Amino acid sequence: MNNPRTLAAYTLMQVADSGRSLNDLLPHYREQLDEADRGLYQQLVYGSVRYYLSLDELSRKLLEKPIKRKERIVQMLLMIGLYQLWQLDIPEHAIINETVDATKPLKKPWAKGLLNAAMRRFQREREILLPKLQNQAGFPGWLTRSLRQDYPDHWQAIMAECNQQGPMTLRVNLARQSRNAWLARADAAGLEVTPSDVTPTAVTLAQATGVLMIPGFSEGEVSVQDEAAQQCALLLAPQKGERLLDACAAPGGKTGHLLEAADIDLTALDIDAKRLERVQENLDRLQLKATLKAADASDLSDWWDKTPYDAILLDAPCSGTGVIRRHPDIKLLRRPKDIDFLAEVQATMLKQLWRALKPGGRLLYATCSILQKENSQQIERFMAQNPDAELQSLPITGDAEVPFGVQWLPKSGGHDGFYFALLHKATTA
Ligand SMILES: C[S@@+](CC[C@H](N)C(=O)[O-])C[C@H]1O[C@@H](n2cnc3c(N)ncnc32)[C@H](O)[C@@H]1O
Repeated sequence: MNNPRTLAAYTLMQVADSGRSLNDLLPHYREQLDEADRGLYQQLVYGSVRYYLSLDELSRKLLEKPIKRKERIVQMLLMIGLYQLWQLDIPEHAIINETVDATKPLKKPWAKGLLNAAMRRFQREREILLPKLQNQAGFPGWLTRSLRQDYPDHWQAIMAECNQQGPMTLRVNLARQSRNAWLARADAAGLEVTPSDVTPTAVTLAQATGVLMIPGFSEGEVSVQDEAAQQCALLLAPQKGERLLDACAAPGGKTGHLLEAADIDLTALDIDAKRLERVQENLDRLQLKATLKAADASDLSDWWDKTPYDAILLDAPCSGTGVIRRHPDIKLLRRPKDIDFLAEVQATMLKQLWRALKPGGRLLYATCSILQKENSQQIERFMAQNPDAELQSLPITGDAEVPFGVQWLPKSGGHDGFYFALLHKATTA
């Protein structure tokens, strides 16, 4: 079975019904496809997962009677067809023919007529059906309510941004060459790239491309990293000779950046030993060195040698709501109780890591979340419990007013949603 639409339907079903992540599923399915079909498969999967809740509602309206549970794959294929008719610029007769054709590997000949009729009905009635959709943006109710509460004036605009595709952004290794020097090389290689106006190490590609096509990638002169993620090392601003901790390091994006920024003694910690291997691979490509440890950052007795750090980066595990545009399965996989759980994990980590920071030292708390429970409210709680913590002002502007720290929101063609708070530890409490 190597039909990209059929495989997209199977992928969608596993995310929606079995809670599998796209990161797990995509490599498995992609390798079953010809190179030429992989782009379309990926586009269909990302789009249909992004709008799953809208497509589910729409497909139920179009079906004469509900599809039996054991025939769910047919509904998934209908959703793949509807996604294309609704959102993609492909001739509609081709979409219908190809989607009906994708029933062949399912060995359910009855599904052909059903899909054909439902898609043709959508073509006829789209002007009536689409405005009546209760769930237009494909967000679960609990997340819509949280965003509305946190951003009463622009929650809808935020959701629209979360439904755009994020650009491919690179970090130029300034220890090796200036950004302008690398831009000249990219230009000579025929790549269309623009320098970021908010992050001095960042450049954004007009079109995503394979990393091996990027000048200097294999030699560690550039890395793939969003503009917002690149702010972490810039805001923590490591200085030569300092002892630093990257407490949640894997897969090592920020570890590499910290080491590019200054000659430091860096420990990179992550609870997941398998993910830590990715940190080593990244450092090998960058030709940089750190001490790697697989350990629980909140259990100091397990790994800390009692020598305090000059600076700590806590890029905490979080809901990932700021990167939904890159990981649309977050909409389906996250549950409201996850947010409370994560907020507690983050609070424990902050509390414990603070002990490992030397007086006069600094800790950057960062998340790729846009939920205030994990961000400004988390720091508010921490500050209330730690009188020796002072919140530093940052040289970047937020996209939304929050009482503590700086909140960036996802921006078309620009950065992901991200949160930053830089805490200074007073020398006397
Ligand atoms: C947001 S990701 C870090 C991304 C990373 N800083 C980068 O730039 O590539 C969060 C990481 O926290 C790790 N993690 C979760 N709980 C942890 C814990 N208790 N101790 C240490 N690491 C933990 C996860 O395995 C995950 O790799």
